Amino acid sequence: MHSPTAPAVFTSPIDPGVDALWERRTELTPADGTARDLVVEAVDMLDAGHARVAFVDGATGQVVVDERARRAILLCFRLLEMRQTSAGVFHYHDRLPLKREFPGVRVVPGAVARWGSHHAPGTVLMPSYTNIGAFVDSGTMVDTWATVGSCAQIGKNVHLAGGVGVGGVLEPANAAPVVIEDDAFVGSRSVVVEGARVRRGAKLGAGVLLTASTRVFDAMTGEELPPGEAPEWSVCVGSTRRKSFPGGEFGVPCLLVIKRLPEGGRHDKLLLESLFREHGFAL
Ligand SMILES: CC(C)(COP(=O)(O)OP(=O)(O)OC[C@H]1O[C@@H](n2cnc3c(N)ncnc32)[C@H](O)[C@@H]1OP(=O)(O)O)[C@@H](O)C(=O)NCCC(=O)NCCS
Repeated sequence: MHSPTAPAVFTSPIDPGVDALWERRTELTPADGTARDLVVEAVDMLDAGHARVAFVDGATGQVVVDERARRAILLCFRLLEMRQTSAGVFHYHDRLPLKREFPGVRVVPGAVARWGSHHAPGTVLMPSYTNIGAFVDSGTMVDTWATVGSCAQIGKNVHLAGGVGVGGVLEPANAAPVVIEDDAFVGSRSVVVEGARVRRGAKLGAGVLLTASTRVFDAMTGEELPPGEAPEWSVCVGSTRRKSFPGGEFGVPCLLVIKRLPEGGRHDKLLLESLFREHGFAL
């Protein structure tokens, strides 16, 4: 997830011609072959992992967004034609094709990934959905019915448990995508959206709701932590805080840090997952 080679000033590896196309995007149509080729080339780079929409800068810890990459994705919706496709008895009508190349990735039947998403070798896709611009790093498992939204960034050795919903973000410009860092665990049916961040090694219990504005509290100290973030090497569950409204006092969702793990620490209850990782991930 961290990019140790991130330069101080980020330069997108994508052709700057994409920015020029963006400036005249309202004029573009699928008939513009040269423009289409440039955008397809950019999204091919995302698909192959040679470019990515966002990454965590190893030096600053900040999420750096490649706006050019995001623009290339948005331009696809202007420049690619609607096409009919089918798989057996299923028929589709869309502008974006599905991903075709999965080198070193286990793709269980029922898994769907759109072109322009990247899965590093050693990832496992159970019947799940990955949208364009998402990046899923090595050793990560996207479990059954989990969805990885557009441009979401998932680190190494992450487990997105069954039914997890990781939100996508294509617009507005500068909106940060969801980032789930290396060694994190996201429990069943949790929802992480709106540029929320699950920091390294954090374990989210089943049914957590984490948005950019979710407030976060440490159950040991009572301290309020930065909103929209699960702290690194923490165990968190969904909770509620009391809030007064003109109509009365109501419970509003929040994230509660119930434990801290040592750096690199695993959680006993999640050990089954590590056994599976060691013995079940071989291709
Ligand atoms: C978060 C989790 C790891 C915590 O496990 P733990 O560290 O052993 O903690 P405990 O089970 O002792 O729970 C501590 C407290 O938090 C509560 N709690 C646990 N999980 C919770 C959750 N998901 N949401 C809300 N509260 C939860 C417990 O009721 C307990 O409260 P209590 O002390 O009053 O009884 C675990 O409960 C969990 O949710 N695991 C994920 C399961 C999952 O999604 N598996 C994927 C299968 S594909």
